[in-house]
Amino acid sequence: MLKFVSLLALVLGVATAKYLDAPTSVTLQVYYETLCPDSIDFLVHQLHPSYVNFGGDVVQVELIPYGFASEDNSTGEKVFTCQHGPEECYGNKVHSCVINAATVNQTVNFVFCAERSASPANSTILQGCAEQNDISWTDVEDCLSSGLADDLLSANGNKTKVVDPSFIPTITIDNVYSQDNQDGAIKHLKTLLCNILQYPIEYCRC
Ligand SMILES: *[C@@H]1O[C@H](CO)[C@@H](O)[C@H](O)[C@H]1NC(C)=O
Ligand SMILES: *[C@@H]1O[C@H](CO)[C@@H](O)[C@H](O)[C@H]1NC(C)=O
Ligand SMILES: *[C@@H]1O[C@H](CO)[C@@H](O)[C@H](O)[C@H]1NC(C)=O
Ligand SMILES: *[C@@H]1O[C@H](CO)[C@@H](O)[C@H](O)[C@H]1NC(C)=O
Repeated sequence: MLKFVSLLALVLGVATAKYLDAPTSVTLQVYYETLCPDSIDFLVHQLHPSYVNFGGDVVQVELIPYGFASEDNSTGEKVFTCQHGPEECYGNKVHSCVINAATVNQTVNFVFCAERSASPANSTILQGCAEQNDISWTDVEDCLSSGLADDLLSANGNKTKVVDPSFIPTITIDNVYSQDNQDGAIKHLKTLLCNILQYPIEYCRC
């Protein structure tokens, strides 16, 4: 009995220590491209369900659309080349404008809507997804035509260069890359987050 009690105390102690050490929120940076199948899969099947089920207070999300794009500004204008062609640059710019103007909640839901569609860089679909989330499409068009979208995409290029990803999407946690977390996020983000947060929220039990 005594043995059992001390074992119980030990287990509780360890559990409490773990709980006290565990972070109460996690910030994910997601480096992605709008037409990359691996990005689409991650955004739709990993990121969105985790964001919705853990909540935006617990899972904070920073989206950085750019990926393996490149920029030529030698003529004074910013000209981008994207891995999946000009349509992807357009999609990345629209996402950049939304990220800049909308709340994270609106943005994550917009991205989910667009990326799970049959044609994630189609302007009609992007407009529909924006309107569905109370994001002004007129503002997005102004962003695209004013040059703001180019500046935002260029800034995403700078951020991406710092991480120097070898795979897209790349996910960092609190701005730190680790291969284990990358693999965990891609494979099963929910499990990774449950492990990091270390507390038995209902969602982690099912
Ligand atoms: C010009 O393009 C390069 C990449 O080719 C980029 O590193 C640099 O930040 C750009 N400069 C400006 C001012 O945007
Ligand atoms: C986030 O967006 C969803 C879908 O548009 C909405 O149902 C939910 O109420 C929003 N949550 C917050 C905290 O704004
Ligand atoms: C975009 O989607 C709309 C609605 O689904 C469709 O009618 C249109 O042909 C598409 N445009 C392109 C360029 O694929
Ligand atoms: C990107 O970085 C370059 C310097 O490396 C800087 O000149 C440029 O202004 C930055 N661009 C943006 C949009 O932050």
